[in-house]
Amino acid sequence: MVKLTREEEEILNGRMGEAKAKALEVIVRVAESLDAERLVNIRHAHISGVSYGTIGDPGKAFISELYRLGARFEVPATVNPIGYDDEVPTAVPFLDVDDNFIRGQAEIIKALVGMGARAELTCTPYETVFFRSLGLKVGESVAWGESSAVAYANTVLGLRTNREGGPLALLSAIVGKTYYYGLHVPENRIPSIAYRVEPQLIDEVDAGIVAEILAEIHEDMRPPLVLMGVPEGEYRSIVLREFAAALGAAGSIGMAVIPGVTPDYRGGVVGAPIGIEKRVLLSRRKDLAPTRKPDIVFIGCPHATEAELRLLDYYLRDNAKIPILVTLSKDAYKRNVEVVRRLSRRGVLFARSTCLIVSRLKSRDYAIATNSYKAYFYLRRKVGSVGMLTLPRLVELALGFGI
Ligand code: F3S
Repeated sequence: MVKLTREEEEILNGRMGEAKAKALEVIVRVAESLDAERLVNIRHAHISGVSYGTIGDPGKAFISELYRLGARFEVPATVNPIGYDDEVPTAVPFLDVDDNFIRGQAEIIKALVGMGARAELTCTPYETVFFRSLGLKVGESVAWGESSAVAYANTVLGLRTNREGGPLALLSAIVGKTYYYGLHVPENRIPSIAYRVEPQLIDEVDAGIVAEILAEIHEDMRPPLVLMGVPEGEYRSIVLREFAAALGAAGSIGMAVIPGVTPDYRGGVVGAPIGIEKRVLLSRRKDLAPTRKPDIVFIGCPHATEAELRLLDYYLRDNAKIPILVTLSKDAYKRNVEVVRRLSRRGVLFARSTCLIVSRLKSRDYAIATNSYKAYFYLRRKVGSVGMLTLPRLVELALGFGI
């Protein structure tokens, strides 16, 4: 039985409007089905599943109906990427965008913004100026619906969130609450099984492979304790974001604990760590390497950050012979306009507010090379060929060296 506060009872009784009552009803039903003892207040919601290309007319109708019923967000909310660059829809030649798509997408965004969301349109909301201005602290609860951001929030930021479906994150934003269960409960964040990654230092391709292995072998409800060497400096954030994104893509793990990274780690566990050997990583790297000259070198899944743009600027010393597509938030684009300009002159294409996965591609025959396991995971079903390399190797490829 879920214990509700008087305020929650009043919301359920419709005292604060039909939309809020309906939203809370769903959250309480989910809480009941999970045997959650109560609800918990959230400080922020991140709403995913908003691309018209993914949710189509049924999804658009669901969101618009809530808006029409008068729903308004109780907490700050941000929104995931959509199906095209919302400032210049035709910015990227590989993406298929037509008027119908733009109309459908615009209606979805209008309803979300009308309810009070910030249309940051990014899967790295935690990198935006807006999110940072909220000053969230380690241990606070949020309701996020983007699996890469969920794993990052729990593992790196010390925020607490379960992996919400897009609609549930939206309903939580309306009520300002979610069910107190899973990773919101401190005891459930204490690891009981450890894994040791053999190489001293890993890069983003290794990080994706480690996450893939964990998704396969880690069956415990609690997060895995992962003993791995993460580089310092600008490469650190790339490795951590790619690791979190891969965890979310390859399986259902919503958090890992990395000593030295995870801020709320206070010990725990465990028996002897299970080894993840270097030879296993090397062999998987070989499988994942591109086998064809790519049509597109894709960087920015999750959305590229300032650190990634600076590294690309550092490595790309000449004009790219193969187009490099970088997807990123409007926020990152605006804050790094000088780097963006320099890179554009060297043949880099930029797409804000979207990515190759949530948009529609013009062709299924593209060969794509990327440094993102998550992009690899989803694009392998969408295009002819996908391969993985680290950022510096991708740049070499784009400059004409390699395959
Ligand atoms: Fe973000 Fe698209 Fe990757 S939403 S995590 S860039 S699949």
